[in-house]
Amino acid sequence: MIQCKKYLRSIVAYKAAAFAPEAIKMSANENPLGSSPKAVKRIQDMATRVFQYPDGNNSALKEALAKKYLLSADNFIIGNGSDELFTLIAHVYMQEGCYSITAESTFSEYSFATRIFGGEMIFCPLKQGKFDLDAIAKAVSSETRLIFLCNPNNPTGTYFSHQELSAFMKKIPENVLVILDEAYADFMDCADRPDHNQLLSDFSNIIILRTFSKIYGLAGLRIGYAMANQAIINDLNRVREPFNCNSIAQEAAIAALGDHEFIDQTLCNNQRGKEFLYGQLDSLGLTYYPSQGNFICLNVKHNGQAVFEALLNQGIVIRPLGSFGLNTWIRITIGQPEDNRFFIHCLRGFLEKNSEDIS
Ligand SMILES: Cc1ncc(COP(=O)(O)O)c(C=O)c1O
Repeated sequence: MIQCKKYLRSIVAYKAAAFAPEAIKMSANENPLGSSPKAVKRIQDMATRVFQYPDGNNSALKEALAKKYLLSADNFIIGNGSDELFTLIAHVYMQEGCYSITAESTFSEYSFATRIFGGEMIFCPLKQGKFDLDAIAKAVSSETRLIFLCNPNNPTGTYFSHQELSAFMKKIPENVLVILDEAYADFMDCADRPDHNQLLSDFSNIIILRTFSKIYGLAGLRIGYAMANQAIINDLNRVREPFNCNSIAQEAAIAALGDHEFIDQTLCNNQRGKEFLYGQLDSLGLTYYPSQGNFICLNVKHNGQAVFEALLNQGIVIRPLGSFGLNTWIRITIGQPEDNRFFIHCLRGFLEKNSEDIS
């Protein structure tokens, strides 16, 4: 009988959420305004070009990113979504008997990437919804290979500052790679957020990941990128498929980078939506973490799964956080004004009907 590798047998295949195209989707932190119009135009133009293979070096996109970040094109690698980059990193640096470290309630791909290459994950609890960098530094051992940090954190929306990260990096041995996942960093508005160029010049063992899935509205195209020193990028290129990013995604990403109007509209919608939702949640007496992302993590004081089901019946999809170990919490993507109002209307209805507080 054919048998898969021993260490893969305990991994359960990812079960995608049911697809409900008619529902208002506030569950996956996509852009409620859709995609960058400049990217959409480029996607249409590219339709006649797909008979050719894509540029396997992703050169034009890397050049565009180099210009944006004042780095060299050799400091970038493009992935089929940042999801692919997590697995490339683990493919290169993880092995059986070794460990990654991350937070207990954070993005699940870090653990997935570690385990499919035979490693194990050590989870450190969040501290007041925030990555506990001191606890993570203390958990490092000679078997640690990777540390995954999410900033702002999915699902809590909390963040750590440049100073906190820099102090943490000083405690981490140079042979441990720190992966800074900044999928939502485009939404941050705090002055003390981590500074890429400074981090890359101060530390040789950091890689920073970003995505086109969120602020640029290109989640369906699957494109993300990482920046690091050339030695790390060269390592990752050893295991990258020659044509890992399709030509439409590469071109759309370049167009999206230059669509400042769309980025401004997205940020403005996000800020206004956040203020509206904070006000409403305050009036409902619910607690939430102040968010630096395009989503809010709130304690509904009832089973999150029950809230999910009740709201789904009314045509709105939210994310219950039981799988993150947060049973009475949910995460909602900040939507368009009418989506936010409808969400509050449905949530208020649920809370009125279910007055018993289980928290
Ligand atoms: C924290 C975080 N990192 C990475 C990703 C994945 O991004 P991509 O769509 O580029 O694979 C997500 C998607 O939700 C995310 O929440």
